[in-house]
Amino acid sequence: MPTQNQERRLNVRDLAAMKGSRPIVSLTAYSAPMARALDGHADLILVGDSLGMVLYGMDTTVGVSLDMMVAHGAAVVGATRRACVIVDLPFGSYQESPEAAFRASARVMAATGCSGVKLEGGVEMAETVRFLSARGVPVLGHIGLMPQSVNAAGGFRVQGKTDDGARRIRADASAIADAGAFAIVIENTVEALARSLTEELKVPTIGIGASPACDGQILVTEDIVGLGGDFTPRFAKRYAELGEQLNKAVGQYAEDVRARRFPGAEHCFTLEAKRSGAKPRLAAVSSEAAGAPPGASNAKGRRGA
Ligand code: KIV
Repeated sequence: MPTQNQERRLNVRDLAAMKGSRPIVSLTAYSAPMARALDGHADLILVGDSLGMVLYGMDTTVGVSLDMMVAHGAAVVGATRRACVIVDLPFGSYQESPEAAFRASARVMAATGCSGVKLEGGVEMAETVRFLSARGVPVLGHIGLMPQSVNAAGGFRVQGKTDDGARRIRADASAIADAGAFAIVIENTVEALARSLTEELKVPTIGIGASPACDGQILVTEDIVGLGGDFTPRFAKRYAELGEQLNKAVGQYAEDVRARRFPGAEHCFTLEAKRSGAKPRLAAVSSEAAGAPPGASNAKGRRGA
């Protein structure tokens, strides 16, 4: 799932029911084109606050605002029909109190149409997860490495290496599972710990740099298609080099413009027909004559179509 003939959008119960039957496929998307590309493949699309770093070039996710999450969340939900879409609550929008978390969640859900929210935190967030879950807000938990706490943690480090660290993560996982999280993301955590949490918890675990034994996997899409810049996290596998292709395409366009090879006649509009008394017709619309497949240049609502 999702499949081409799937009639309805997956919901959080569908995802929870996948535990023990088949792996949950998850990826991030922040825009309509990316969301469309993922929708036939991913069970869960996360509009992650990683967009602050990936799209906006921030050093951490701490500067991401609720307005940003709402705008990108609405774009992703609007472009998808099959995947369950979850939107991250950004730093500062939920840590203060369960009530603040509810206000932020209600805004995100009403404005985007997403199926739930994700928040980072364990024991200290359990009360908030319970408050939200009891009020109709499905919560995806996030433990292990929590990027919004990077300033307190002193960097993006692998979690659960010491006995103390492992004990803390174990306590975090059971606290938010008991509080009603429908699934839990485990990030950058020692493999054996993520594996045993997956065995112990009743809710699905979704790993990122965690364990193949997790009930699902999630990655930042840009990291797997070569659009994430120079740095690729060790836990991400590259499936394409779209950054190189983009660079090549843009370079060719620049050369064409400088050499006056672009635009060609097929990209220009003329009013030749007007002189003969016939109804004026935009020459560029007849792209079939220029070798494009029927209808290819007439994408609805595009400028010049
Ligand atoms: O913000 C994000 O994209 C995330 C995922 C990578 C889990 O939290």
